[in-house]
Amino acid sequence: MATMVEMQKVAVHLGENSYEVLIGAGLLEETGARLRAMGFSNRAAVITNPTVNRLYGPALQDSLERAGLATSVLEVPDGEEFKTLASAGELYLKLGKMRAERQTPVVALGGGVIGDTAGFVAATYLRGVPYVQVPTTLLSQIDSSTGGKTAVDMEGLKNRIGAFYQPRVVLADVATLRTLPPREFASGLAEVIKHAVIRDREYFDYIESNIDKIRAQETGALIHTVARSVAIKAGYVEQDERDTGIRNVLNLGHTIGHAVESASGFSLKHGEAVAIGLVAVCELARRLGVLNSGEAGRIKALLEKAGLPVVMPPLDKEKIMDAMGQDKKVHGGRMRFILPHAIGVVAIADDVPPALVREVIDG
Ligand SMILES: NC(=O)c1ccc[n+]([C@@H]2O[C@H](COP(=O)([O-])OP(=O)(O)OC[C@H]3O[C@@H](n4cnc5c(N)ncnc54)[C@H](O)[C@@H]3O)[C@@H](O)[C@H]2O)c1
Ligand SMILES: [Zn+2]
Repeated sequence: MATMVEMQKVAVHLGENSYEVLIGAGLLEETGARLRAMGFSNRAAVITNPTVNRLYGPALQDSLERAGLATSVLEVPDGEEFKTLASAGELYLKLGKMRAERQTPVVALGGGVIGDTAGFVAATYLRGVPYVQVPTTLLSQIDSSTGGKTAVDMEGLKNRIGAFYQPRVVLADVATLRTLPPREFASGLAEVIKHAVIRDREYFDYIESNIDKIRAQETGALIHTVARSVAIKAGYVEQDERDTGIRNVLNLGHTIGHAVESASGFSLKHGEAVAIGLVAVCELARRLGVLNSGEAGRIKALLEKAGLPVVMPPLDKEKIMDAMGQDKKVHGGRMRFILPHAIGVVAIADDVPPALVREVIDG
C-alpha cells in the first residue's frame, strides 16, 4: 500500500461492532488494498449515483479489481427523492443478479443519500452483508457515514424505514471534496461549526483561525477538521448508539433549522437551514439569559465567514411555527431545545415558552 502523506484515524468503540474512520487524501485509490487486508475477497458491490460514479466510480472499481475483488457498480439516480424503498428494491435485485453473498461487501460511494440507502440495503439484504462507507460530501464525511443510522424515506417522511447498522470501515477521502459544488461544501461546514459549539471550544478557535484554509480545502486543514468532527460525533455514538439520550445534542440548531428548511419548500439546503437555526437558537439562549452576546456573536460571525446564511429569510412565520409544532421536541405547551450555554457547552431545556420562540423567529 502506498504510504499516505497525511492520514488520521478515529476509532469508534462499539464492542464487536467497532470500526475505524480513516481520513486522508488519496484513500479512494487504496480502498481495494484496505478491504483485502480486512479479509474481503472474491466480489464487491459498489452502490453510487451517476454524478459520483462519473467522477470516482472508475478509480474505485480499479482499486477493488486490482485487489482481486470482481466489482459490480450499481447505480441509483441522484437525489433525496430516490432514497426510497423502491430504490432499495431494485438494488436487492441487482445484488441477486451479481450473486452477492453473505461476505460480499457493499461499498457506498457518495453523499449521505447514497450512504443511507446503501447502508439500509446492506443491513437487510441476506439479513445483513458487510458495508463500507466511502463518503464524498463534507456532510457525509463529518456526519452521516459514522454512527450506523441507515434509512430510506417514505412518501416524503424522512428516514421512516431504517435500521441501526454499523459499517466495517469508513474511508473519507478529502480529495473527493474538490468537485463538490460550493453550496454543498458550505452546507457541510454548518454541521462542522455545530460540532464545535456543542463540544469543543478549542476546535471552534481552530476553525475560526483557519476558516480560509478550510474553505480553500488545504489538505491538512481539511483532514484535521473532518477528524475532529468525526471524533466528536463518535463520542456521542459510543455513549448512545441508538440515539435515545445524549446523542440528541447533535441536533443543536435543528428544531428551528428543520422548520425553516421545510417552510422554504426545501429551496434552502439542509446546512443553510441549520446555520439559520443555530443563529436563532443562540438568540433564544441569549434571551433566556444562558448565553452571553459575545459568544452568540462569535458563532454567528463564523457561520457567516463559512459562506452560510445567518438571517431568517422572509418566510411565512406561521409555517415555521407549525412545522415546529409537529416536531417531536414539543412537550405539553412548552418546547424542548438544546441550548448553547457557551461555545463548547450545551444543555437541554424542557420549558422554553413558545412565545419566546415566536419572538426569535419574528426577528
Ligand atoms: N445517517 C445519518 O446519520 C445521517 C446524518 C445526517 C444526514 N443524513 C442524510 O444525508 C443525506 C444528505 O447527504 P448529503 O448532504 O451528502 O447530500 P447528497 O448525498 O444528496 O449529496 C449532495 C449532492 O452532491 C453530489 N455529490 C456527492 N459527492 C460529490 C462529489 N465529491 N463531487 C461532486 N458532487 C458530489 C451528489 O450526487 C448530490 O447531488 C440526507 O438524506 C440526510 O437524511 C444522514
Ligand atoms: Zn443536520
